[in-house]
Amino acid sequence: MNKLIIAAIAACLSTGALAAGDVAAGKGKAAMCSGCHGANGKAMVPSYPNLAGQNAAYIVGALKAYKTQERKGYQAAIMYGMAAALSDQDMANIGAYYSSLK
Ligand code: HEC
Repeated sequence: MNKLIIAAIAACLSTGALAAGDVAAGKGKAAMCSGCHGANGKAMVPSYPNLAGQNAAYIVGALKAYKTQERKGYQAAIMYGMAAALSDQDMANIGAYYSSLK
């Protein structure tokens, strides 16, 4: 039982390591996001979300949910095309970038 738990934790950790985000690469990709989310991660429009300082894992989760269109309602459809163009690595990089902003 304990071995199973350790194996499960190890699997999670190694998946996490593979998906580690690269801040510089994320900054490059985020250029296409800045028109709405701001060059500094502060939204240009009050009804759009700020991303600066957001948790990286949350950003990745949100982007995946937009890509699969599981996340619906309010303005979600605006994000479908944006997220569709991103790979899992892009999402990890973007998450690392925005979480690094204050
Ligand atoms: C045309 C404007 C626009 C562009 C460009 C855009 N977004 Fe968004 N984004 C939005 C809006 C509006 C929402 C809120 C959607 C909703 O209601 O779910 C949003 C939501 C998000 C969220 C969820 C925030 C939260 O608090 O849950 C993330 C993460 C995100 N965008 C990341 C990105 C990334 C990364 C890019 C570039 C690849 C990008 N966006 C490009 C308008 C935009």
